[in-house]
Amino acid sequence: MTEVIHDPRAFQQAMERARADGRAVGFVPTMGALHEGHLTLAREARARVGDRGLVAVSIFVNPTQFGPNEDFSRYPRELERDVERCASVGVDVVFAPEASAMYPADERTRVNVRGVSEPLCGPFRPGHFEGVATIVSKLFALAGRSVAVFGRKDYQQWRVLTRLAADLMLPVEVVGVATVREADGLAMSSRNRYLSEQERAKAAAIPRALGEAVRAWERGERDGERVRAGVERALSAVADSIDYVDVRDPDSLDRYAGGDRALLAIAIRVGKTRLIDNVVLGEERAPA
Ligand code: PAJ
Repeated sequence: MTEVIHDPRAFQQAMERARADGRAVGFVPTMGALHEGHLTLAREARARVGDRGLVAVSIFVNPTQFGPNEDFSRYPRELERDVERCASVGVDVVFAPEASAMYPADERTRVNVRGVSEPLCGPFRPGHFEGVATIVSKLFALAGRSVAVFGRKDYQQWRVLTRLAADLMLPVEVVGVATVREADGLAMSSRNRYLSEQERAKAAAIPRALGEAVRAWERGERDGERVRAGVERALSAVADSIDYVDVRDPDSLDRYAGGDRALLAIAIRVGKTRLIDNVVLGEERAPA
């Protein structure tokens, strides 16, 4: 049975009780509209805490991480179905707070993670990572000592939150899970449902372009700029606009300065839908 908790303090107390009973806590923060990618994170959390552990999934469409022209109001909300999906993979607790409980009228705190928030999506989504770092700080405060599982689909977010937990000395182990993809390699995303049939077909060029880069890397290519330019060329055929195609150090997100591992990350718009994807060259297989 999956228990649904709306009140933040009640969620915090449930996590404290579990630990007092000797149960490890696995925590998966989400914004809902759950798909196989999210469920994979919940399974990973279960694998980390074991049968006796407690797995919690939070579902909260966080207003502070959306820009004024972004999709906050039309972001899909389907709590009942999400709870069923969570139950199907053995999630113990779903935490689904109201916005007014997470952001009461007198709240004033924002959390900023410097450095890793600044490249890639940083300039294109001003305030986004501040919103993410702020809500996840609150969620971590409620979850307490735990293993928190995130997807490498949102690679920069995963790096930001790893930095956040370390810098604030939080008792949270941050884990990153490989991107879960559709049969043609497109990264699963709650936003894929915005794509028309034609746009969906165009979006398949993303994993193909990343796959080409992986194969070039495997042949010994180490010129970051050449890899970047090749991917940009491939994507410009299908993208309505390109925010960035970038090659970075996979850990610091500083500029790639040589070496056998490199993060290749992209953000493009297909129609009105913004899609992101990435692969760590020298570490991951070709997505398509
Ligand atoms: P959301 O977009 O719902 O994603 C929740 C978690 O699922 C994130 O860790 C994300 O990286 C992961 N995820 C999404 N698609 C995935 C895929 N195809 N494969 C693997 N993991 C995937 O990310 C957020 O919500 C929010 O920013 C949040 C962290 C909850 C803060 O509001």
